[in-house]
Amino acid sequence: MDQWTVAVLGDGGVGKTALAVQFTLNCFLNFPILAETYDPTIEDAYRKRYIVDNRMCFVEVIDTAGQEEYATLRDPWIQEGRGFILVYSIASWSTFNRLEVFRQSVRRAKRGAPILMLVGNKCDKAFEREVSKEEGAALVRQFGCEFTETSAKKAKTWNVSLRASFAHYDKR
Ligand code: GTP
Repeated sequence: MDQWTVAVLGDGGVGKTALAVQFTLNCFLNFPILAETYDPTIEDAYRKRYIVDNRMCFVEVIDTAGQEEYATLRDPWIQEGRGFILVYSIASWSTFNRLEVFRQSVRRAKRGAPILMLVGNKCDKAFEREVSKEEGAALVRQFGCEFTETSAKKAKTWNVSLRASFAHYDKR
């Protein structure tokens, strides 16, 4: 059985945990970011089996910490990853601006051309949009990777995009 380890990277609060949970467990955890119950991730892993091209695949999604105080932990997570999902929130320009930091971390830690996917999350927040789809598309031309906008609230969009990306990834 093929096994892929995919690390999800991005600024704090962009929805990395919500996307990992949506992908593996098909549900949306709505935890208010300012409430006492909000618990920033340090590291979690989610696993899922599914079929791609008639083959059973086992995907491990490593949900990493976005908070800057955990930046020193990033390199070991990146070493574990075979693919990388760089996430920003379409409702936060600063999270988009910080993507280069995560991309550089991947480039430093991995030799060759690492497999990346860029995800603009929270696209349900249309009225709070700060990053246009065109700006996302321009960045992927620079990064040379796949791109999707999605919402962790909407299972179908995200799962379909990620599956398509994995299928592409498997063919490389
Ligand atoms: P760190 O663990 O701090 O790095 O954060 P994170 O990137 O893992 O973000 P997390 O998944 O914890 O989500 C942060 C907040 O955004 C939570 O309140 C989520 O419910 C909310 N959230 C995540 N994804 C979405 C989305 O697609 N749409 C909306 N509206 N809210 C979302």
